[in-house]
Amino acid sequence: MNKFTPAKAAGARSVDEITGSRRLRRMRKADWSRRLVQENRLTVDDLIWPIFVVDGRQVREPIAAMPGVFRLSLDLAVKEAERAAKLGIPAIATFPNVELGLRDQTGSHILDPENIINRATRAIKDAVPEIGIITDAALDPFTSHGHDGILRDGIIVNDETVEQVTAAAVIQAAAGADIIAPSDMMDGRIGAIRDALDANGFSDVAIMSYATKFASAFYGPYREAVGTAGLLKGDKKTYYIDHANSDEAVREAEQDLAEGADMLMVKPGLPYLDIIRRLKDEFAMPTFAYQVSGEYSMIKAAAANGWIDGEKAMLESLLAFKRAGCDGILTYFAPEVAAMLKG
Ligand code: PBG
Repeated sequence: MNKFTPAKAAGARSVDEITGSRRLRRMRKADWSRRLVQENRLTVDDLIWPIFVVDGRQVREPIAAMPGVFRLSLDLAVKEAERAAKLGIPAIATFPNVELGLRDQTGSHILDPENIINRATRAIKDAVPEIGIITDAALDPFTSHGHDGILRDGIIVNDETVEQVTAAAVIQAAAGADIIAPSDMMDGRIGAIRDALDANGFSDVAIMSYATKFASAFYGPYREAVGTAGLLKGDKKTYYIDHANSDEAVREAEQDLAEGADMLMVKPGLPYLDIIRRLKDEFAMPTFAYQVSGEYSMIKAAAANGWIDGEKAMLESLLAFKRAGCDGILTYFAPEVAAMLKG
């Protein structure tokens, strides 16, 4: 083997000459100095916990594609809400797995004040009034085709869907929801929901707009959780944003704010940190990310295989949202990370 000895450049500069003695490692030299200059921090106040609810009693069904996440009957969901409140988690977002027989073309069961979502809101509010409840007014868990809108002749019809989603939002508010979070991406839904909430005496119910919801492969495990995976035909590209687009996301957020959204959400989360930063800089509004099911499951799966340190990856991914400009994160890790932050 030929040994190659690199020559020193003639008149080679020292590191101090190169850096002008500005050595950025000085502040990284010890734990105390790293803590002192840390710019962003994750706290329990940043967490929103999405949970899945089903009918029955003492039901705790594992979701195969989401290790550590369960579909809960309301008796157990209430227990989990109590645990979340004790941990200091500010809010819960509920998602239903609706009996197949109750799903139809228009998602009409979403208008039943006694559906599982509205019963969950009342049960949790009753037992744990101090925790915030966020409900999704989208139709997908209620339709026989798994789309977020009403399907007519192969087309998701916008205006009829807006009427349905708006009526559902008022019923959810009447059940006690604190924040309505419509995830369907129909045009005009935010303004229609705001008007209807106000007209029905719910002017203090807020709207968290899923302003920029992208057509994404990362929702896969969620569709197993709510039972839409087997139903869904085609894709959601006629209503969710093309994941190639960033200016369009700004226009969506601008429109939703003009219509009365109180908070913005970006979904999915980690692949879209650029969008979060743009929205925060552009609008200076409360901005949230949804770390979606696929993002959660990737970390869990890699950790289960021993390929990454799951706890560290969880904390790093959540802190990344804060660094990007988020005020909070919807995450299935919420109770795990809250317990860790407390300990
Ligand atoms: C649909 C909806 C989706 C999620 C929540 N509500 C996406 C979809 O099924 O298309 C995804 C949440 C997740 O992946 O964690 N309104």
